[in-house]
Amino acid sequence: MPAAVRTAVFPVAGRGTRFLPATKAVPKEMLPIVDRPLIQYAVDEAIEAGATRLVFITHSSKRAIEDHFDQDADLEHALKASGKQAQLEALRDIIPASVSCVFIRQGEPLGLGHAVLCARPAVGDEPFMVHLPDDLIRAEPGCLRQMVNAYDEHGESVIAVEDVPREKTSSYGIVAVDDAQRLRAIVEKPSPESAPSTLAVVGRYVLTGTIFDKLETTGRGAGGEIQLTDAIADLLEEQGVHAYRFDGTRYDCGNKVGYVQAQIDYALADPAIAGGLQLK
Ligand code: UTP
Repeated sequence: MPAAVRTAVFPVAGRGTRFLPATKAVPKEMLPIVDRPLIQYAVDEAIEAGATRLVFITHSSKRAIEDHFDQDADLEHALKASGKQAQLEALRDIIPASVSCVFIRQGEPLGLGHAVLCARPAVGDEPFMVHLPDDLIRAEPGCLRQMVNAYDEHGESVIAVEDVPREKTSSYGIVAVDDAQRLRAIVEKPSPESAPSTLAVVGRYVLTGTIFDKLETTGRGAGGEIQLTDAIADLLEEQGVHAYRFDGTRYDCGNKVGYVQAQIDYALADPAIAGGLQLK
């Protein structure tokens, strides 16, 4: 059995420009889907997959994320005194006592690869999960749980993939795989003409600690950013990496259409809300 995956990394230091002005003062990851912020869905998925240590790569403009996972004794007191038991439990459910949180600042948004590298002091050499909260995935069991199961089976890194229309390849990392779904190549944001397939990397990874060595030497790539994709391409020369076609529905909540679609689907799936909705 390979080493246990106990740590989940959440890179949340990006600027979230596609959602301005909503994200001027509110982090993108704090936008709610029905009654829970995106980052809460992310943390719940990682904990379900076995994470006991959560590492947030954050920025000074994202303090609300830290506050969300902090205990608010005054609010708890007030809810208790006014008999609001359900709301009190909802607060206490935010994070179990057995799970610890680490917040690391990425002073400059140099790219996703750089954000992941910032987690190295907290992760060490262990395998770890990476979760991008704006890729919301509705699945049972959760996508990371499925991927950790695949990691336990293979003992090698696992990245989540999904087929996308060819005209969209330039928005994603794109992989080429062999018959056993092991990566042969990975390239960041290729044009539709040059893409090696239409199999796109989405925001979930289970990576071995070796990725940090690769990230240390990864230069700036697509968009002038330090890309995780480029480090995975280097990792491939040394270790196997598996492309995992998860079972579930992904919503790209980093763009407005995906976010609104998620809002509608999650609301309709909740009978208490769906029953009260009317077309006006
Ligand atoms: P995105 O490409 O979605 O960028 O980053 P963004 O800045 O969040 O949003 P837009 O494009 O301006 O609207 C993918 C993920 O990587 C994180 C982001 O927070 C997001 O979770 N990220 C990106 C970092 O943590 N640091 C970076 O330097 C870049």
